[in-house]
Amino acid sequence: MNPTLSELEARATRHKAAFGGDAHIVCDNLVRIYKTEGVEVVALQGLDLLIDKGELVAIVGASGSGKSTLLNVLSGLDVPTAGVARVAGLDLLSMSARDRLRYRRSVVGFIWQQTARNLLPYLSAAENVELPMKLAGKKRERRAAELLDLLGVGYCANRKAAEMSGGEQQRVAIAVALANSPQLILADEPTGELDSETSEQVFEALRRANRELGVTAVIVTHDPLVSEQVDRTVGIRDGRTSSETLRREDAEGQIIAEEYAVLDRVGRLQLPRDFMSALHLERRVRLELETDHIGVWPAREEPSSD
Ligand SMILES: Nc1ncnc2c1ncn2[C@@H]1O[C@H](COP(=O)(O)OP(=O)(O)OP(=O)(O)O)[C@@H](O)[C@H]1O
Ligand SMILES: [Mg+2]
Repeated sequence: MNPTLSELEARATRHKAAFGGDAHIVCDNLVRIYKTEGVEVVALQGLDLLIDKGELVAIVGASGSGKSTLLNVLSGLDVPTAGVARVAGLDLLSMSARDRLRYRRSVVGFIWQQTARNLLPYLSAAENVELPMKLAGKKRERRAAELLDLLGVGYCANRKAAEMSGGEQQRVAIAVALANSPQLILADEPTGELDSETSEQVFEALRRANRELGVTAVIVTHDPLVSEQVDRTVGIRDGRTSSETLRREDAEGQIIAEEYAVLDRVGRLQLPRDFMSALHLERRVRLELETDHIGVWPAREEPSSD
């Protein structure tokens, strides 16, 4: 018997509710189109992403793939063109200006790549951490000194930005981002201006914030070694999530990083570029369903018509 209309509707909503469920961050078919001088750039082309509460996730991808665009959307700085973006149950598309301000002050913390952009130069480290607490009119739940200690820069409390190294400034910036006990911190290439040893310390500080305070952390990075230090690395290509690297321990306690291609809900996946070029795959491929895998072959040569 054919399902009735209400049964179909119920099924559709069930499906909708299922995507994301109680994930902390839900991006569903996220689209962001920039229009400049009549030219449209599709920076996000239907991006899907789910992140659980307390996860530490790295975002990697080529320049121009949409990483900063995604982070700007999640931080409430930018509004996507279409799709769903939800953080901690809050809808980032329909949010009022007032809620957006509150969201940016108390739900999310942000760390920029440019060290100079994160701290006010005429305030000490401790004063920089206290400033967002004052702006939010919050009682100081956690003292600035404790946060600076947690991130290993307690000794910088009375120093101004110019009196700290780049790495120290970034660790203070993490404390500033954590000042109002956000549920989520976002960092766009926080170690982009640092050498590898200093980067390591900044990463350790982010990991510690994630572990000790339970804050969800999403970090954009170019560092290829990062996937060994985070739970999950999400690769973005052309404005879509294309791969995920999961870290797990094997039976002998060795850390293994396994890379997966991301399959979206309608069955699309991106084949790695080097796989495609190795077999000259373009436009069409032949698929065959086997008992435990799917084979992908180059299309048969069409006899040319001329
Ligand atoms: N404000 C803007 N106006 C117009 N186009 C933009 C704007 N911001 C980003 N874009 C375009 O959107 C695309 C994605 O940009 P985005 O900054 O998200 O890339 P990214 O992955 O962060 O790159 P990078 O690694 O270089 O920082 C690019 O093609 C970029 O040129
Ligand atoms: Mg960027």
